[in-house]
Amino acid sequence: MKKILITRRLLKESEDKASKMFDANLNSNDELYSQSKLIELTQGCDAVLTSLTDKMDEETINKLPDSIKVISNFAVGFGNIDLEAAKKRGIAVTNTPEVLSDATAEIGILLILGACRRASEGIEAARESNWKWSADYLIGKQLTGTRLGILGMGRIGQKIANIARSLGMIIHYHNRSKLSEDKEQGAIYHDSLKSLFSVSDVLSICCPATKETENMINKETVEYFPKGAVITNVARGDIVDDEALIDALNRRKIYAAGLDVYKNEPNLNPGYLKNKSVFILPHLGSATKDTRIAMANLAIDNINEFFETGNCKNKVN
Ligand code: DGY
Repeated sequence: MKKILITRRLLKESEDKASKMFDANLNSNDELYSQSKLIELTQGCDAVLTSLTDKMDEETINKLPDSIKVISNFAVGFGNIDLEAAKKRGIAVTNTPEVLSDATAEIGILLILGACRRASEGIEAARESNWKWSADYLIGKQLTGTRLGILGMGRIGQKIANIARSLGMIIHYHNRSKLSEDKEQGAIYHDSLKSLFSVSDVLSICCPATKETENMINKETVEYFPKGAVITNVARGDIVDDEALIDALNRRKIYAAGLDVYKNEPNLNPGYLKNKSVFILPHLGSATKDTRIAMANLAIDNINEFFETGNCKNKVN
């Protein structure tokens, strides 16, 4: 039986499945392992099932024992893993696409609605019974007829586009390449960031975090947007230069932001907390029971597939 380390606690159903299929070392206290503890616990293991909280950088990967053949990430994003370093050591890295697209798209839409309709201010006022209805109280931005720019029209981006269309939004997108017409469903392709941002009344960031997308929202690109645009991020914090976005929010160039992901999670840049027009969530993209079970099961199956066939369809390096 292959031996695996699971770095974070999973839902019981998934831990039971892992224990049936492997000699699985579970983390019942859900402790956040330090680099040295993780290295120590992987001794003698064939695979490690990681979460987005595990920083699998080059140094960590180089210290893994030779027995490790797979890093199976419990996430669709894999910005926490140095893919090249893993490849150099002959370690396959896998992720969990598709199973979380619906749940994450729901949060993507929640961010758009929350930011545009001033949900943070509304929740605070309602909790404190500190409000009086009036014709101009907490007036927000209506979505009907506005242009939604989608940065990264993959599975999640396409699902957000479908829901947004039903809210009357007009969809624009930028991707590495133009999609086929059946995937576009009438969405308008832009071959540059500048072109997309300049027509985005609302932006939904859905692209993976890579060296190329790091700080794509920055001092320069934030100026491409129409005045009063809304920026939302359901992908990864590394795509946004926080200081540039906070500055644009403070001077009302950007009307509001909706954020589920951050650099240095869970420590948000305090500038976001000081600004009432920022609608924030604590990385809830895939946080539903069905989705978390499906993700964990896929992460476990990815390891099994690799050992049974020598490859895995969800291998990303
Ligand atoms: C992912 O899988 O990348 C999600 O962000 C997890 O919630």
